[in-house]
Amino acid sequence: MISIKNVSKWYGDFQVLTDCTTEVSKGEVVVVCGPSGSGKSTLIKCVNGLEPFQSGDIIVDGISVGSPKTDLPKLRSRVGMVFQHFELFPHLSITDNLALAQIKVLGRKEDEAKKKGLALLDRVGLSAHAAKFPGQLSGGQQQRVAIARALAMDPIAMLFDEPTSALDPEMINEVLDVMVQLAHEGMTMMCVTHEMGFARKVANRVIFMDKGAIVEDANKDEFFGSPRSERAQAFLSKILQH
Ligand SMILES: Nc1ncnc2c1ncn2[C@@H]1O[C@H](COP(=O)(O)OP(=O)(O)OP(=O)(O)O)[C@@H](O)[C@H]1O
Ligand SMILES: [Mg+2]
Repeated sequence: MISIKNVSKWYGDFQVLTDCTTEVSKGEVVVVCGPSGSGKSTLIKCVNGLEPFQSGDIIVDGISVGSPKTDLPKLRSRVGMVFQHFELFPHLSITDNLALAQIKVLGRKEDEAKKKGLALLDRVGLSAHAAKFPGQLSGGQQQRVAIARALAMDPIAMLFDEPTSALDPEMINEVLDVMVQLAHEGMTMMCVTHEMGFARKVANRVIFMDKGAIVEDANKDEFFGSPRSERAQAFLSKILQH
């Protein structure tokens, strides 16, 4: 579903990604971890064309992200992305937040878009909050709305960039539960997260990045059992301490 081939990227003289290669098959859940500044966010932003890259290629469902001919807005509408900050529209109700892109981008009728949005809101356990505004919800609830909003576009894959790292501890699990459910339903997912409990539960593979490179790309048991690189070992021992 997602194929990243020898991708390198520079910001001016600074090389932020170095020859990154990996694949995510349909229905696979891949967790991306690594120290701050290692290029995790940059890599997943490249996948849906939010960041350009200078060499290599990324193919999403047969479409080359790097090709100048590719309709990036169309591609993006098919790849769900959930960030650390939920980025809901503060002046729109939850229902309208869920319906907007369906209407504007996919051309769905308003009642159809609202119906679909409400069904997904129910799926993330928030149907009672449809008429509220984002500011009236907790961070965890807003993040679940953001996930429902992405799902309303019928994405072929979902990208997550530290979706729980801005949340209070007691809200993290409610968001992870939704992500676990999605994984069990067979959604193709690429998740930047340091929630290793989540990774252990649902990841098929774990990618470890350091200084812009993928230094480890292993199946879950291999990664947690015996990470090959010293850098990954040191990283794991640090984050598994708490
Ligand atoms: N727009 C930009 N211009 C220049 N450098 C940038 C830009 N965005 C990111 N960088 C640099 O690229 C490197 C990788 O950043 P990135 O955000 O991908 O890291 P990350 O692994 O997601 O880190 P974190 O865990 O802190 O989110 C960092 O050194 C960062 O400072
Ligand atoms: Mg990041």
